[in-house]
Amino acid sequence: MDKIIVLDFGSQYSHLICRRIRNFAVYAELVPYNIPFIKLKQMKPKGIILSGSPSSIYDDKHPIPEKHIFDSGIPILGICYGHQLIVNNFGGVVKDANKEYGSAMLSIKNNSDLLSNIGKNTRAWMSHGDEAIKIPHGFEITASTSRSHAAVIENTTKFIYGVQFHPEVVHTDHGIQILKNFVLKICLAKKEWNMKNFIDDTIKEISKITGDVICGVSGGIDSTVTALLIHKSIGNRLKCIFIDNGLLRIDEVKSVQEIFSKMGIQIITINAQKRFLDQLKNIHDPEKKRMVIGEEFVKIFSAYANKNKNLKWLAQGTLYPDVIESGISHGPSSVIKTHHNVGGIPNWLTLKILEPIRDLYKDDVRKIAKIFNVPDNIINRHPFPGPGLAVRIIGEVTRKKLRIVRFASRIVEEELMKSKIYDTVWQAYAALGDDRATGVSGDKRKIGNIVMIRVVNSTDAMTADWTRLPYKILERISNRITNEIDEVTWVSYIISSKPPATIEPQ
Ligand code: XMP
Repeated sequence: MDKIIVLDFGSQYSHLICRRIRNFAVYAELVPYNIPFIKLKQMKPKGIILSGSPSSIYDDKHPIPEKHIFDSGIPILGICYGHQLIVNNFGGVVKDANKEYGSAMLSIKNNSDLLSNIGKNTRAWMSHGDEAIKIPHGFEITASTSRSHAAVIENTTKFIYGVQFHPEVVHTDHGIQILKNFVLKICLAKKEWNMKNFIDDTIKEISKITGDVICGVSGGIDSTVTALLIHKSIGNRLKCIFIDNGLLRIDEVKSVQEIFSKMGIQIITINAQKRFLDQLKNIHDPEKKRMVIGEEFVKIFSAYANKNKNLKWLAQGTLYPDVIESGISHGPSSVIKTHHNVGGIPNWLTLKILEPIRDLYKDDVRKIAKIFNVPDNIINRHPFPGPGLAVRIIGEVTRKKLRIVRFASRIVEEELMKSKIYDTVWQAYAALGDDRATGVSGDKRKIGNIVMIRVVNSTDAMTADWTRLPYKILERISNRITNEIDEVTWVSYIISSKPPATIEPQ
C-alpha cells in the first residue's frame, strides 16, 4: 500500500497531518524525526512530510533528521519548522525575524502543482518566530504573506516543497487541498487506505501467527473490535479475558458478558476486585495509578498464560491517540498520560504484544464495527478508560468514592439518554475528588462530597470541547445526584476544554 511518512519534530499538530491524509484514503504514518534513513527507506514512502516543531533551528539541540533524506529523490514537504529545515539544509538563510501568529492572507504568485485549485488569495494559519529570508539556489517562491515573503517555496526538479503555514489545521482554508496536491499530484500516492482493505490485510497478517492469543476485553468498542479481528483470523485460538477490577461501572460485568455471548465469542470473567483495590491503597498520583493498574492487568494475564502453554500473545485494543499521547510513537512530543495499555507493560512480560488497531483512530474503529455488524448501542457506547473509575477519582481510590462515582455516572448517563443527547456527545460521566462542601439537609448543616460532571464533544479525543448542556438538564442531574446520593452536597459542571485540560481528570 502506498504511504506517506510524517517525520515528527514535536509539533502539537503532527498527528493531524496523518489524520488529514488518511481522510482522503492514503495511508500516513507518524515516525520520530531521527528515524535512521535505512529504516525509513525500507518503509518505501511515496512522500515525506517534515512536521512543525516547538524548537527553533537556532536552539542548541534542535531536532534534525538524517541528511540523506534530502537527496533521496523522495518528494518532501516541509511544514513550518520543516520548511525552515529545508531552507537551512540547501544553503538558504533562516532568521529570527518577523513573528507571525494566527491567520494571514496568502497571495499565490505563480502556478504550482502544490497550490493548484485554491485560488489566488487564501487564508493560512501561521505560528512561527523564525523566517526564511534567503531561499536556497534552485528554489522558487510561489506564495507570500505580508509578513512572510517566502511563505511557500518549491524546487520542482528535486520535488522538495516548503510551506511556512500549517495546512493541517482547520484555520487554513484550503489546507486539505494543499496536502492533497502534494500527496496525490506530486507523490502520486494511490488512494488505497480504507477499512475494508485494512480488515482483509489485518486478518491475513494475524492468520500467520503461531500460538494462541489472550485478549483483555472491556465491552468497549476498541477491545471488542480487536477481539473480532483476531477471532475472524484464528477462531477459538483466541481466549478473551474480562477482568473485573472493581473499577467498573454499574452492571458492567453483566452487560459485557451479554455483548460477547451475542457475538458468539466466549469470554472468561475473572473477579480481581480485591487485588486491584488493595494495590491502589494510598496511591494519589495519577501516573502511579495507571502503572499499578497496568501491571496488575498484565500479572493476571501472565498467570493465566502460564497455565496454558499454547498462549504466546497478549492482544490489546490500543489506538493511535493512545500511542501518541503515551509518547511511544515518536521523539520529542511529551508524554501527556501513560495510557495503561501502552505505557504499563512491564519488561518481565514474556507474552508478545498484538495490537491490530494501533494505527487507527476511534472513528476508523467504529467503521470496522459497522462492517462487522456490531449492534449500534455498542458502537455508540462512550469510550471508557482502561484504568476505569480510578482515573475519574482524584486522590486515593476508596470503595466509598467508587460507590458515589458509580451512582452519579449512572444518573448522568440516564438523563442524557432520556433527553437524546447521549449519542451526540463524546463522553459524559461523573468524577470525584476529596474536596467537601457544606450543604443543608432537613434544616441541618451537612458536610458532603462535591461531584464533578464532565460532558465533552470530540472527534478523536486529541482535542475536546465542553458540551453546552441545556440548564434544564444540568438542573435535573444536579437535583437527582444530591437527592439520591446521600454523601453529596454539591454538583459542579466542568467547563474546561482539551487543551488546556484533558478529558479524564487523572
Ligand atoms: P484524556 O484524559 O487523555 O483522554 O484527554 C483521552 C481519551 O482516552 C481515554 N483514556 C484512556 N483510555 N486507558 C485507556 O484505555 C487510559 O489510561 C486512558 N486515559 C484516558 C479517555 O477516556 C478519553 O476518551
